[in-house]
Amino acid sequence: MAAGSAWRSLVSHVVGGAARRHAPRAPFFSRGLQTVTLIPGDGIGPEISSAVMQIFDAAKAPIRWEERNVTAIKGPGGRWMIPPDAKESMDRSKIGLKGPLKTPIAAGHPSMNLLLRKTFDLYANVRPCVSIEGYKTPYTDVDLVTIRENTEGEYSGIEHVIVDGVVQSIKLITENASRRIAEYAFEYARNNQRSSVTAVHKANIMRMSDGLFLRKCREVAENYKDIKFTEMYLDTVCLNMVQDPTQFDILVMPNLYGDILSDLCAGLIGGLGVTPSGNIGANGVAIFESVHGTAPDIAGMDLANPTALLLSAVMMLRHMGLHDHGNKIQTACFDTIRDKKVLTKDLGGNSKCSEFTADICRRIQDLD
Ligand SMILES: NC(=O)c1ccc[n+]([C@@H]2O[C@H](COP(=O)([O-])OP(=O)(O)OC[C@H]3O[C@@H](n4cnc5c(N)ncnc54)[C@H](O)[C@@H]3O)[C@@H](O)[C@H]2O)c1
Repeated sequence: MAAGSAWRSLVSHVVGGAARRHAPRAPFFSRGLQTVTLIPGDGIGPEISSAVMQIFDAAKAPIRWEERNVTAIKGPGGRWMIPPDAKESMDRSKIGLKGPLKTPIAAGHPSMNLLLRKTFDLYANVRPCVSIEGYKTPYTDVDLVTIRENTEGEYSGIEHVIVDGVVQSIKLITENASRRIAEYAFEYARNNQRSSVTAVHKANIMRMSDGLFLRKCREVAENYKDIKFTEMYLDTVCLNMVQDPTQFDILVMPNLYGDILSDLCAGLIGGLGVTPSGNIGANGVAIFESVHGTAPDIAGMDLANPTALLLSAVMMLRHMGLHDHGNKIQTACFDTIRDKKVLTKDLGGNSKCSEFTADICRRIQDLD
């Protein structure tokens, strides 16, 4: 469904990553109480999920949470799958909010995040990286979005032994997936008042695979003359990014480059603890998630920072057309951080997760 209309209409309502450029759009979901599948996850997941639920309550966000645990189970034919009740809930609600899931190295099953992506064909990973006022980092004015192709490329999972001591890993690039992610990036640019899209590639080395990706980006760009299109080698992007990230707007790229570059960009604004993320699927399904891990070293100690999951939940609200609620929550969260009085340890403070959460709730009530 490369140029299908269903996803195209969906992206027009998707996540206003950077609130400062965000323009109101018609709600995709009907008014009234909306069901969201909540996957609290492991480690600190339940704590930060509870924080988000409290903050949503304070903001009177019209969300009904349907909580589901996700672990890998073996289905018919020995195929790994997510539990049927979680799949059924997501199929119905179409929207998920997910905390971190542990994937032990010797688990014997694929990464849960990968399984979710495959189950719901979550083909676009969107990460807005916007500097947070009051949270000091070497860069003050970052405002960019990474859009990563999520389903193929170097992570297609096709590996084999050729002879003893020699393995081969296949980087799969298809015309359809490349066109689909390029179209998503340009639609996102248009709908979020962004002016440029940069295709990140290494087509000078991987002439066929990255060459195809780049060709599709160029073709799609022809249909979006209002958006400036540039193309850049991955290594050049890395160099330029750390020198001056303000020169970038939207970056679109294949899977592996996106995995690495999106973490690099998160680092520019203060790390994974403050970076939201959304995974957008082909069939109207979207899962918003914090991108940090389960933080087993602080799990259960009321020390976790819920900001990344909260800002992902704000992306989710905007995706659902609930802009007022999203803006209110984001304002309260950024005000708490700017004030510096109630901060979790990773943000340079001494407060507990519960205190940080309570401060945001209080500010939301003050905004009413
Ligand atoms: N998206 C995901 O679900 C996801 C992503 C990465 C890792 N993981 C899983 O998480 C587990 C642990 O991974 P890891 O230790 O490499 O990375 P991690 O992100 O869990 O922890 C790295 C460091 O960051 C800190 N940290 C992370 N999130 C924090 C938060 N919200 N507030 C305060 N501090 C925070 C941790 O305390 C730790 O010191 C592994 O099982 C891994 O598979 C899951």
